[in-house]
Amino acid sequence: MAISQQISNQMEKASWIRRMFTQGMELRRQFGDDQVFDFTLGNPVVEPPPEFKKRLIEVAQDPTPGQHRYMPNVGFEAVRESIAGFVSADQGVEVTADHVIMTTGAASALNVVLKALLDPGDEVVILAPYFVEYLFYVSNHRGDCHIVETDESFGLDLEAIGAALGPRTKAIILNSPNNPTGVIYPAETLERLATMLEDHRQETGHTVYVIADEPYRRLVFDGVTTPPVLSIFADAIFCTSHAKDLSIPGERIGYIVLGPQCEALSELTNACAFTIRVLGFVNAPALMQRTVASLQEASVDVGNYQKLRDLFYDGITAAGYDCVRPQGAFYLFPRSPIADDVAFVQALMKHRVLTVPGSGFGRPGHLRLAYCVSADTIERALPAFLQVRQEMEDQA
Ligand SMILES: Cc1ncc(COP(=O)(O)O)c(C=O)c1O
Repeated sequence: MAISQQISNQMEKASWIRRMFTQGMELRRQFGDDQVFDFTLGNPVVEPPPEFKKRLIEVAQDPTPGQHRYMPNVGFEAVRESIAGFVSADQGVEVTADHVIMTTGAASALNVVLKALLDPGDEVVILAPYFVEYLFYVSNHRGDCHIVETDESFGLDLEAIGAALGPRTKAIILNSPNNPTGVIYPAETLERLATMLEDHRQETGHTVYVIADEPYRRLVFDGVTTPPVLSIFADAIFCTSHAKDLSIPGERIGYIVLGPQCEALSELTNACAFTIRVLGFVNAPALMQRTVASLQEASVDVGNYQKLRDLFYDGITAAGYDCVRPQGAFYLFPRSPIADDVAFVQALMKHRVLTVPGSGFGRPGHLRLAYCVSADTIERALPAFLQVRQEMEDQA
């Protein structure tokens, strides 16, 4: 075979969302855009907030020479200072520009960090259900994933996490608000995890870094906030992007913040400055860095997502689905009414309703519904959810 066997296997494993996307394109071609109800992709339909475009124009028109040249791999000093100021206030710890690294979105942030941390055979704890790309990112850097299930409500199972820690455990990835469940891990649980990791370090001498992947941090509902990982965990590495909060996933901009108490902080900072380069990112896009620097308080209308969450969650539970009520992000992860989630997704597709089976996120028996769509799409799809549940349960 011309391509690598490993990549071929990974493509097969990762194909769910893309497969559904392709089938959706075919259905759109046949029936028209407004007759297909696509809940597969976390690709927001809302436009970026007006401040974004205003700032982008200002930055593009800045006549100062040298704005589009190479820069330090970690990003512009002034941008990193501005982000350090925001993050210090937001997280309740003093971080400096030295520990901020601008990246090409959260995906790049995670790869930069994992490459800096992992030796072949080092383990990373991943909590299921998970964002499937984590498996590939860890494998990119020759690490091994140790999958740990969350509980029935997708909360952290501290006992299971404790049992997974071993001499090769280098990191754990926490994603809150979570894709695919919308769950936010409460501060008390995170504090108990922090104690557990500290005990592990005392007993074994091994540091386990907490990689907090938080691109949905600002998309929270009902007055709930996402707890500040940089003040909860000593060895925290915060990764984020503006893909979701500013609704600019195509612009590829995000950042890493290394916690001020991180073990081997300066080696880790230098390592990330190196890995961002050798992974081929070199530096995050210059124009976008300068645009988002002053937009750290800005966000899309979170109230709109909360309304969509209410509409979809109320509709789907009224249609007889069992679902944990999400407090953030823009996903629902209901239980599939029949055990075979793939068969259920296929039955929904016959009604031109596109969803992704939980199997694609390491938790079969569920469906993921991305609701970064219009209210109209949700409203018109709800009758099909009811009908297919009844049909499939009758057949079972
Ligand atoms: C949990 C999670 N992490 C990381 C990413 C990647 O984000 P970005 O587009 O900023 O690379 C996504 C994108 O959907 C995500 O859902």
